[in-house]
Amino acid sequence: MYISVLRRISILMISLLLSSFWVNAIARKSMDKVIDEAFKNAAIQYAGLTDQISSTPGLLPHSILPDGTLHRVKPSSWVSGFFPGSLWYIYEYTGNDAVRKDAERFTSYLKSQKNNNMTHDIGFMLYCSYGNKWRLCGKDKETEDILLSGARALASRFNAKVGCTQSWDTGKCGWSFPVIIDNMMNLELLMWAYKESGDISFRDIAVKHADTTLKNHFRKDYSSYHVVSYNPETGDIEIKQTHQGYSNESSWARGQAWGLYGYTMMYRETKNEAYLNLARNIASFIIHHKNMPKDKIPYWDFDAPNIPHAYRDVSAGAIICSALIELSNYVKKDEADEYLAVAETQLRALSSPAYTAKIGTNKNFILKHSVGYLPGNREIDVPLSYADYYYLEAMLRFKNKVLKK
Ligand code: GLY
Repeated sequence: MYISVLRRISILMISLLLSSFWVNAIARKSMDKVIDEAFKNAAIQYAGLTDQISSTPGLLPHSILPDGTLHRVKPSSWVSGFFPGSLWYIYEYTGNDAVRKDAERFTSYLKSQKNNNMTHDIGFMLYCSYGNKWRLCGKDKETEDILLSGARALASRFNAKVGCTQSWDTGKCGWSFPVIIDNMMNLELLMWAYKESGDISFRDIAVKHADTTLKNHFRKDYSSYHVVSYNPETGDIEIKQTHQGYSNESSWARGQAWGLYGYTMMYRETKNEAYLNLARNIASFIIHHKNMPKDKIPYWDFDAPNIPHAYRDVSAGAIICSALIELSNYVKKDEADEYLAVAETQLRALSSPAYTAKIGTNKNFILKHSVGYLPGNREIDVPLSYADYYYLEAMLRFKNKVLKK
């Protein structure tokens, strides 16, 4: 009797283990398929996008204008690096040499920006384009020179009194020395420059900027302000505000996404536990927010007034997704599983017809439904080049982290 109960229990346990093995296997296989189909789709869409810009050399695609035409930008735009960066990711997945040639061609458009010291966005511009070229094609002198020059241009915007690099060169809104949360993203170029050149000043600037932002940009609930402006003579805070969000005290979704990604990246580069803790707290704010929809693609602002009828911001969803996958590397299993479950929900949603455009539509961008600058009445419910970029990056990260196990 006793033995037969034991036998039944062990049979039950074995069948449970086997069934969870098969459930996992099927789930894994299907995410493989989701990602494979998404990259096939991306390759076709971006071939079409490449054709569209062949007639306007020197310009790069960014979005769709209100009149329905393709929004093209000059290499000096903050978004110029995302299109070549997406081509690098498609090349990374497909290994297609024609895509690599296109990626090289459009990356070379940004060469002219290597000494651009008029914007903090030089990190986005050069690191998404030339940074991916460096990573995928190996070291070459020209790429090294362009990335190091860009890092020097960014470092020249550092003010030791404030402890930050200045984001915008602008007297707009009365700001003397505006620093935006987005600026955390540009520190990756400085950390690359430190590792390649051995010049510790690049690292010191990046760390100081991250420390100052950690101190001044965040609220008690770990949401962040968009803009903190400083007095450049004294380093005192002048004002804390929004520019692209709903209100000064609201939580602009993409701002939260930049903070999460930025501090996760800075933890990777420095192993400073304060950055990891902040990233985990930002993740918790985002994931457990009462206004986070079921599919985990946030509204453009977590405090938008017309939720649940507010616009979604797919770009914020894609950035959060990519950041959570990386953050899962640095935490205990339960927490990692939670981040990866959210990321999987996001990837499945983004890859569905709700957000992925049909081939040949959407001016050949991959994703629909992003919001660039709603208070400025610009880029509302449109595709954005950086939404596509972080989506492709997130899929590669998910594949490398989860599916290769
Ligand atoms: N300033 C970059 C953004 O719109 O997120």
